[in-house]
Amino acid sequence: MISKKSIKNECYVYMTLPEQVAPVTAGKFILETTPSGENVGRFVYGKSYLARFNAVPIDPVELKLTDKVYETTIMKGVFGAIRDASPDYWGRRLIERHISKPNVSELDYLLNSPDDRIGALGFGLNQTPPAPKRTFNKVIDLERLQQTADELIREEAAQDSLHIQVEELMLLGTSMGGARPKAVVFSDNSLYVAKFNCATDRWNNAIVEHAMLLLASVCGLNAAESKVVQVGDRDVLLVKRFDRESTVAGYLRHRMISALTVLRASDETSGRDKWSYVSLAEELRKFSAVPKEDAKELFRRMVFNALISNTDDHPRNHAFIAKDRWRLSPAYDLTPNPVISLEHRDLAMQCGQQGRFASKSNLLSECRRLMLEPDEAMAIIDTMADVVKNSWYKLARKAGLSERECELIQGAFVYQGFFS
Ligand SMILES: Nc1ncnc2c1ncn2[C@@H]1O[C@H](COP(=O)(O)OP(=O)(O)O)[C@@H](O)[C@H]1O
Ligand SMILES: [Mg+2]
Repeated sequence: MISKKSIKNECYVYMTLPEQVAPVTAGKFILETTPSGENVGRFVYGKSYLARFNAVPIDPVELKLTDKVYETTIMKGVFGAIRDASPDYWGRRLIERHISKPNVSELDYLLNSPDDRIGALGFGLNQTPPAPKRTFNKVIDLERLQQTADELIREEAAQDSLHIQVEELMLLGTSMGGARPKAVVFSDNSLYVAKFNCATDRWNNAIVEHAMLLLASVCGLNAAESKVVQVGDRDVLLVKRFDRESTVAGYLRHRMISALTVLRASDETSGRDKWSYVSLAEELRKFSAVPKEDAKELFRRMVFNALISNTDDHPRNHAFIAKDRWRLSPAYDLTPNPVISLEHRDLAMQCGQQGRFASKSNLLSECRRLMLEPDEAMAIIDTMADVVKNSWYKLARKAGLSERECELIQGAFVYQGFFS
């Protein structure tokens, strides 16, 4: 009889420290699949890393700077901070095509994705990290990248064998998360996430998302900088990366973790009960450099999402970054969704005593746990509702959205049930 054994895979975890442009080895990640099929992840910091005067933890709560062996069995044994640096739906599709083997493991995704991943981590099989990537796609390459993304989607839809060259595929920003086709490009001395429109989009997504980021700024939110560029006869949204900073010596990389990690939650429906703005505000107090400010900003984002019916506000669409100390990242991936129901709309995360209900009274119901007094919270909501109502259309038109497309999205803004 053949006895089943555990399968162990491991890799080194590299970190680009604050104010540095080249990575150092931070520790080792070991992923074990037991004979019963359970995945156990372990992480241990290297002694020489712990001895560095400038060492920083890869996760400020779950993986503090100690010499213990951390262990997890949740999320297939992948620690949240590592999962955040791993590709998501779009990137995984590309890697599955690239390495064409039957069972792609979590470690395969980490090791086969390029170095454009969010945050400051890297992964490899050598104890010494490779030199950092210095050059990225340019805006001028966008037409070719867009064509490659289109072709990939078309061929997949037709279940066709893939003709696209592997090198072409890998040029598409595979390590960044999200489902929408994207690439990372360099422009005006900065790195941008380029998000492509898809044939199945109901409106010009690039313009709509750009207009929402502008609207968020007008509402007083700290939103990512963006612009729309024309590529061939199509628009592409460029969102400036807030986790990278170009310097003469190379790129600074700010650490980044998603709200999913902060909430110790998973993407799966079974983990959804942990998706909550209120819990997120309570968790951020454990590590944010400015808890009160961040909690208030989170409250504003929750209100903004309710006012534009952004029902895709799941915890991967909120993040924290640390250039030096941890803070809520700028807002990104803001999309209006003109849901049919006029009376009741739910956000993706819980926002009050009535669960996910996107209504003023529900948003107010737990405001103290978001470090706001009811008066102030009420004033924020009323002011923002007015700004959204009065400005969304002007901003969308100015950004280039057609009258017809405005009609398609208008039902998303300050819906009737919000004030119920
Ligand atoms: N401006 C940015 N700077 C750094 N990381 C970003 C930025 N925008 C998005 N990201 C990261 O990339 C991921 C995918 O981007 P997102 O805009 O959410 O795409 P999608 O619409 O496909 O979900 C996000 O979950 C976030 O981790
Ligand atoms: Mg997203």
